[in-house]
Amino acid sequence: MQDAAPKTIYLKDYTPFGWIIDDVHLTFRLHPTATRVISRIRFRPNPETTDRTFFLHGEALKPISAKVDGHEVALRNVDGGIEADVPNAPFNWEAEVEINPEANTALEGLYMSGGMYCTQCEAEGFRKITWYPDRPDVMAKFTVRIESDAEHTPVMLSNGDGLFYEQDSTQTPAPNVSIYQDPWPKPAYLFALVAGDLVAHEDSFTTMSGRKVDLAIWVRPGDEHKCAFGMEALKKSMTWDEEVYGREYDLDEFNIVAVDDFNMGAMENKGLNIFNSSCVLASPETSTDGNFERIEAIIAHEYFHNWTGNRITCRDWFQLCLKEGLTVFRDAQFTADMRSEPVKRIEDVLALRGRQFPEDQGPLSHPVRPESFQEINNFYTATVYEKGAEVIGMLKTLVGDTAYAKALDLYFERHDGQACTIEDWIAVFEESTGRDLSQFKLWYAQSGTPKVTVREEYKDDVFTLHLSQSSAATPGQDSKAPQVIPVAVGLLNDNGDEVVPTQILELTEAEQAFSFTGHATRPVPSVLRGFSAPVTLEQNVDDARRAFLLAHDTDPFNRWEAGRMLARGSLMATIRDGAAPNADYLDGLKSLLTDDTLDPAYRTLMLGQPSQSELAGLLHQAGETPDPDAIHTASEALRDAKAQSWADILPDLYAANQVDGPFSPDAEAAGKRSLANSALMLLTRIEGGALAATQYAKADNMTLQLSALSALLDADAGDEALAAFYDQWRDDRLVIDKWFSMQVIHAKPEAVADTAHRLTNHIDFDWKNPNRFRAVMGVLAGHHAGFHNKSGAAYTLLADWLIKLDPVNPQTTARMCSAFQTWKRYDAHRQTLIQTQLERIAGQATLSRDTAEMISRIRGV
Ligand code: PHE
Ligand code: ZN
Repeated sequence: MQDAAPKTIYLKDYTPFGWIIDDVHLTFRLHPTATRVISRIRFRPNPETTDRTFFLHGEALKPISAKVDGHEVALRNVDGGIEADVPNAPFNWEAEVEINPEANTALEGLYMSGGMYCTQCEAEGFRKITWYPDRPDVMAKFTVRIESDAEHTPVMLSNGDGLFYEQDSTQTPAPNVSIYQDPWPKPAYLFALVAGDLVAHEDSFTTMSGRKVDLAIWVRPGDEHKCAFGMEALKKSMTWDEEVYGREYDLDEFNIVAVDDFNMGAMENKGLNIFNSSCVLASPETSTDGNFERIEAIIAHEYFHNWTGNRITCRDWFQLCLKEGLTVFRDAQFTADMRSEPVKRIEDVLALRGRQFPEDQGPLSHPVRPESFQEINNFYTATVYEKGAEVIGMLKTLVGDTAYAKALDLYFERHDGQACTIEDWIAVFEESTGRDLSQFKLWYAQSGTPKVTVREEYKDDVFTLHLSQSSAATPGQDSKAPQVIPVAVGLLNDNGDEVVPTQILELTEAEQAFSFTGHATRPVPSVLRGFSAPVTLEQNVDDARRAFLLAHDTDPFNRWEAGRMLARGSLMATIRDGAAPNADYLDGLKSLLTDDTLDPAYRTLMLGQPSQSELAGLLHQAGETPDPDAIHTASEALRDAKAQSWADILPDLYAANQVDGPFSPDAEAAGKRSLANSALMLLTRIEGGALAATQYAKADNMTLQLSALSALLDADAGDEALAAFYDQWRDDRLVIDKWFSMQVIHAKPEAVADTAHRLTNHIDFDWKNPNRFRAVMGVLAGHHAGFHNKSGAAYTLLADWLIKLDPVNPQTTARMCSAFQTWKRYDAHRQTLIQTQLERIAGQATLSRDTAEMISRIRGV
């Protein structure tokens, strides 16, 4: 609960720990309410420092005993842990504590989920398990003994390789013992333990040097049929990391466990990844194509952490992007290789604009490497992850693919087994390329989204691009220095031929000019190809030019972007002046939609339009006050216009993209289904729900079933299907999450709060389960026009639930507070409504450190 004065931790205050640990032995005597944890640790003085303060973190631990070299020692309770007097020499520490997994609703440390024991230690959960220097720069080898006398824990896993397993079935209940040893030194945040009644989907993988690895995905009985896809994704990830990064797996076992109650997506614990079940369990009947793609990416992400995160970890939590930015970048490369590179790039830019830009343009803006925090859980953000990955991508663009590969080899070789900093990472690139990267490092230190302004000049046969950069003030950063911005540019002639292929302009100053000579006619530039830097672009370009690029740009990202800009312009004109949707845009897009040389997944992205919250952000950036109702109306009007003006091609588009044969979640089949689904959504607008009802009735996979349900709900014709859907899936938690979400997504703006409120009274609204909570409250916050409905009902409802959840699960509560981060965009009336809720939350007698920090940053106090 909230300290009297919340403590801020600073990067600049880093000091090493006074002690080194070589080995840790842990014994767990499992019990749902009284688990005993015995730790035996060998400490020796750290020669790098003279500070021998013996402080161990510890939270909510019941002390049983503590011994130094076999003698009971007195413990002093200090803030966040204990201190003891110890010799200034190597010594043995032995301690026993008691913890209560069943009472642990925060889902950090050792907790219970559906009768099974599991752990979550990143970032600072290990201190809820036993006394320990719970900091990532303390790395040690762990041996773990798990004992249980209950029948329902036949499977007991920890990190590393299983050495021993025994069940004494002569006794009732039959006690089990299992021993795991992890030969690789690791920080405590990578510790994991799982015990329960689990079944395995097994397979094996032989690494490039011939090591046979036993693979298993562990699930609750009944979920076995949802493991095959995840297993394939794991094997693909293992092969890819060998082929592309030369990285091999390093244990005899690799285990993945699916857990229903989990705050985040998944966790890369050494050799024992723990997954939110929504991020690993998949079957054609219960998962959409989007689910399959996401699961494949998350399995890869966690697996890739074995090298970028585990073998090389972070010195302190300020360096979080060292492992996350790089691992997100790696998983994006993997997905691009497995599926489509342009499609993945567009999806990532959509996510960046949808989540990271609002963060960077509001009160929560922080650098990719923050310099201070109160609660590190609050910094698992889109900025650290997604902008962190963009920074790696820019670095690769600047040094080139070969130099990038060479630098990564050096990084793995030099830093294997270490806890590193961004400085270490940058130094590897500087040394292997001979390049000075001090200015590039500003990407880690300066927050905010830079704006690049483009001006064109054509004289004689010289075409010049004048580029300038600027960055608005962000919390704690009033003025900023110019950054290194790689701007990928290509030039086209009037016929749409590429006359200058993509090259990288390095914008390093506030203003710079780049000239291209020998152009007898004025070329058309395509700027920021592939979205080569996470910036906003200001370019005075008319619709004719955009339509030209939409038809001809050879860069698939910018071709899509041209359409996006036309959509943006059309929507803005409707919002501002009630203008009708832009007919040229609709015509230009129409010819692309039926162009069968274009990947259906890419065409689906072309069909999309900026989200309502993106539009609100753009209006705010332009100095205007967004009106959520006007934005909603304009967005709907554009969809109606698409349906009307494409009425003649939609039935064919739908028919041509049906997929026959047994279901496969591969990119090609998924792309076709997504295009057919987009056609269905539009067709339903003109023809009502008949086609959607037919699709619903015969759907044999979740992608078709859910898209039909969506179309029906959109047409106000979904009641029957919704009820049938519930009856069919009432026993499948992950599908019921979708059932909850769907109703909120498709509610009318003025009815969203009521709908969400009604759902919270549903018998299946298990609000302590983060997935279920997010399925209603997270989706409510994402319904732009509904959340910002002027009644303020949605603000109040969300605040009510955040207040209720905070004492139970601070981490999930705090993350969801970001729903309010854009409050300053809106009119005075809405601002007051939101402020009232923020103050109400802030005024709670007890508030977690997590939520207190978020609310005070959002309020700007
Ligand atoms: N480290 C995890 C990942 O990115 C995310 C995570 C953070 C999970 C904190 C749980 C708790 O893969
Ligand atoms: Zn990660």
